[in-house]
Amino acid sequence: MMDRSKPGAATYPKLIFILSSERSGSTLLRVILGKHPQIVAPAELFLLAYPDYATWRREKPIAIESLEEFFRLVGQNKHRAEIDIHCQNYTSTEVYRWMLSFLNERTYLVDKTPAYANRTEILKASTQLDSFYIWLIRHPLAVIDSYLRLRSKRRTGAGLRARGRSFLERAERVLDRGLNRAARRREAKWVQQQINIGRFLTSVPNNQKHTICFEDLVTAPECSLRRLLGDLGLAFEPAMLYPFPRQIMKRGIGDQNFHTRSQIQPELALQWKQRFSEQSLRPQTSEVLKMLKVRRLE
Ligand code: A3P
Repeated sequence: MMDRSKPGAATYPKLIFILSSERSGSTLLRVILGKHPQIVAPAELFLLAYPDYATWRREKPIAIESLEEFFRLVGQNKHRAEIDIHCQNYTSTEVYRWMLSFLNERTYLVDKTPAYANRTEILKASTQLDSFYIWLIRHPLAVIDSYLRLRSKRRTGAGLRARGRSFLERAERVLDRGLNRAARRREAKWVQQQINIGRFLTSVPNNQKHTICFEDLVTAPECSLRRLLGDLGLAFEPAMLYPFPRQIMKRGIGDQNFHTRSQIQPELALQWKQRFSEQSLRPQTSEVLKMLKVRRLE
């Protein structure tokens, strides 16, 4: 039995970080992985982005729900008041180690938090832990498409100002090869996040990382998952492919549309082609895309 009062005192099972841009299918991958009996995958933790528990609690209050979810998943049912008392003086690394101490020997904890890819210092902080990294890549135009649809859904019903803004955005698209300013910002963010992840992972040994494309995950899920699980030393579980419960994600944590789908939808890999063409991408984005070898589906 591990000593849970001292977070640095034992050898811990591995932590898996899913690194990706937002809107890359990271919630889907997390939920699929969470169906494996040796993987615990709560909603986004955000913990790595903060130096210690107290700062995390103050600056990302909603994320305590992900920690509570973790304890439910491991059968512990700890409430935030109890967690607060236990972790108040912990660094973030100590909180992770404490969480890992509740897992069985060959069980993994998944933390999928796309915001980690925004800064290399955050990614570097993970090296204090014994971690495995999954780099989830999705075509930038699919990410932009998803982001714009979500953004316009949030603005729907916001009245005349929103309608005026949407007219301006349509005009900008004509001026800038089909992508408006918001799309260009999202494109730049995607590029920066891939560069941050790519640079960071060059320092990680090959046996501690795996790259997976969203396009492969949704069009050939079994094959993609077998490869990923193989690198984790885990067997494939057919239940991972079965329909999943329609979970409603908390605002600000994960995919807000997740509850609208109950199975893997391969057609989403190509949906962006109805609205965008690769000709719209900036040269730097096309270059990064070429380097990443995202599979081009026809
Ligand atoms: P949209 O709902 O806008 O299409 P993330 O979790 O990283 O934010 O990614 C969200 C996106 O993952 C969704 O954005 C959708 O494209 C994709 N996704 C979510 N559930 C899916 C499913 N069941 N099958 C295929 N793709 C899915």
